[in-house]
Amino acid sequence: MTAPLRVLVTGAAGQIGYSIVIRIADGTVFGKEQPVELVLLDIPQCSNILEGVVFELQDCALPTLYSVQAVTDEKSAFTGVDYAFLVGAMPRREGMERKDLLAANVKIFKSQGKALAEYAKPTTKVIVVGNPANTNAFIAAKYAAGKVPSKNFSAMTRLDHNRALAQLALKTGTTIGDVKNVIIWGNHSSTQFPDVTHATVNKNGTESAAYAAVADDAFLQGPFIATVQKRGGVIIEKRKLSSAMSAAKAACDHIHDWHFGTKAGQFVSMAVPSDGSYGIPQGLVFSFPVTIDAATRDWKIVQGLNFDDFAKGKIAATQKELEEERDDALKACDDANI
Ligand code: NAD
Ligand code: LMR
Repeated sequence: MTAPLRVLVTGAAGQIGYSIVIRIADGTVFGKEQPVELVLLDIPQCSNILEGVVFELQDCALPTLYSVQAVTDEKSAFTGVDYAFLVGAMPRREGMERKDLLAANVKIFKSQGKALAEYAKPTTKVIVVGNPANTNAFIAAKYAAGKVPSKNFSAMTRLDHNRALAQLALKTGTTIGDVKNVIIWGNHSSTQFPDVTHATVNKNGTESAAYAAVADDAFLQGPFIATVQKRGGVIIEKRKLSSAMSAAKAACDHIHDWHFGTKAGQFVSMAVPSDGSYGIPQGLVFSFPVTIDAATRDWKIVQGLNFDDFAKGKIAATQKELEEERDDALKACDDANI
């Protein structure tokens, strides 16, 4: 039998947790031949809910679910994990920006970064979903340094990427499979830059640049960008809860592609510690277009893309916000005596 992968989901008693665990357990993420040892972490007050989720997973009778365990302490959670979905954190409510969560959530990621360093494998791959996701990933990577390399940390902008694909498909009367290579640059926040300059749309068998297929530059530089940037807030306004089904699906897409590699000729958006590409300061967790090699499971930032002044301005704004968040988070971590 193939050795099981040990996969941790934090915040597993929450909304996203409930949507994500089935996809990990049923083979959607790691394949139908890959057994999974699922570890579910939440705070002790949620232990009954967690137990209910474990019972439901057992009742799903899934051939790929080798085992499932509910835990409420970091040592049991992080020991020996291959992949960690760090979801557990407070969500924003109506009227808040994601960075308003920084003070409440950053200490969780400081503590979990230390736990990764102490208990996880050096090869563990981490996706941070909990907001503000980029900055939480930056903090987790900082406190895991020396044990888990920073290239193993990422934050989720795949939901924004999927939102951009969907908006482009809707606008051009095509389906998701016809649209590729949108890019989310920067922060998972309302300053992100959803960029379709390098995207293509296949309509009735003919592939063309997204700008040509849409033939409405004002739309692509205005309402399209605003819709993707503000989608999370609109969902909260409508549901009175933050997105969960689409967030869980995006996290699974992100880890699926990290595990299996990206498709030839296609890239995906992932927030990763910058290697200095495109002048983004080293270490800042910034969303870039990446490709992933299936054999090494290393991501590479797509190089050589050109920016016009419009794009340069958008990228500068999201970079500035991330630098400010990073500095606030570092200060909060110094203040947080954990
Ligand atoms: P939720 O409130 O339903 O669930 C969060 C869970 O995390 C709760 O069960 C809570 O008890 C748990 N938790 C809190 N502290 C914890 C800790 N230290 N260790 C383990 N678990 C802990 O929230 P949700 O809707 O599932 O959202 C979770 C997070 O994901 C929020 O921060 C939300 O803003 C974020 N989010 C990010 C994206 C993205 O695209 N990056 C998308 C959607 C939501
Ligand atoms: C989203 O993009 O839906 C999430 O980050 C939740 C939020 O606060 O917007």
